[in-house]
Amino acid sequence: MNTTVFPPPRITDPASFGRVAVLMGGASSEREVSLDSGRNVLNALRARGVAADGVDGLPNLMRELQGGHFSRVFNILHGGAGESGVLQGMLEVLGVPYTGSGVLGSALSLDKIRAKQVWLTLGLPTPRYLRLAKGQDVHRAAAELGLPLIIKPSLEGSSVGVSRVYTDANLEAAVELAARYPGELLMEQLIEGDEYTIGVLDGRALASIRIVPAGEYYDYHAKYVAEDTQYICPGLDPPGETEARDQAERAFAALDLRGWARVDFMRDRQGRNWLLEANTAPGMTSHSLMPKSAAAFGIDFEELCWRILEMTMPGGAST
Ligand SMILES: Nc1ncnc2c1ncn2[C@@H]1O[C@H](COP(=O)(O)OP(=O)(O)O)[C@@H](O)[C@H]1O
Ligand SMILES: [Mg+2]
Repeated sequence: MNTTVFPPPRITDPASFGRVAVLMGGASSEREVSLDSGRNVLNALRARGVAADGVDGLPNLMRELQGGHFSRVFNILHGGAGESGVLQGMLEVLGVPYTGSGVLGSALSLDKIRAKQVWLTLGLPTPRYLRLAKGQDVHRAAAELGLPLIIKPSLEGSSVGVSRVYTDANLEAAVELAARYPGELLMEQLIEGDEYTIGVLDGRALASIRIVPAGEYYDYHAKYVAEDTQYICPGLDPPGETEARDQAERAFAALDLRGWARVDFMRDRQGRNWLLEANTAPGMTSHSLMPKSAAAFGIDFEELCWRILEMTMPGGAST
């Protein structure tokens, strides 16, 4: 089930990229995951002959760029300034090409509430939600939205601060946990069904993946530690797969994304898909989903990194 045909890479000489900074680590709650992703990207680019070096965090990158040490940036910071538009704005000012989405797409995607607002405006399906203001009566909000529901911080990733709430008695603890993180709180209708994700490369959807955690939930442990989470790819039969891929492409375009991204969604028991969020610098660890989604299209890890980097060259991404 491979309906998208990617033309062969345009760039064949690794020297054309000049020196590449692989930006990783940083100060977000996903620092360790980013370091893991970064090492993998660095190894892949070097294996293909690219002159790449790792750089930890924005302050170091700024110094390196001022010294004129790099001609482009492969951004693999997860969360925080790396995915929020801040890094992208700085690189725009400096005129340094970088992988992935620009200022607007990054900022919209990091903020789960704003991403949902854009999708809803365009008629794309995303679970009903309420923005929880500080001091708001959470019981009243829950009654309005209906149980069961999910509470999450709007700006975090990796399931950090996310709780499922089935009874009113558990509301306060869920709000308290999410409130430990910066940004607004999102109360969202809980979709019961299966969890999926789908990689998008240069505006075109790759294969969907159905995530089947051994435990009940796809939490931080299931994402990065457990070896028994099952990934089924492609995750859907042809009509459903085509629909999901189309939705992922529309979700990507709606947020003005560029280069690559991964779109997470739930599929309810009636077979309807609900968009959860878009990740503009998705994980590239050995457990990560973007590489699996690409592999189903015959794009191995090294080639995936090459293609993401290639879109920083003149003529760039097609979206
Ligand atoms: N509305 C929802 N219904 C059911 N499960 C959800 C919902 N929102 C989030 N989840 C679960 O929580 C996890 C994390 O939520 P997500 O919105 O993808 O944020 P992030 O991955 O950035 O932490 C998802 O992978 C999913 O397992
Ligand atoms: Mg997610």
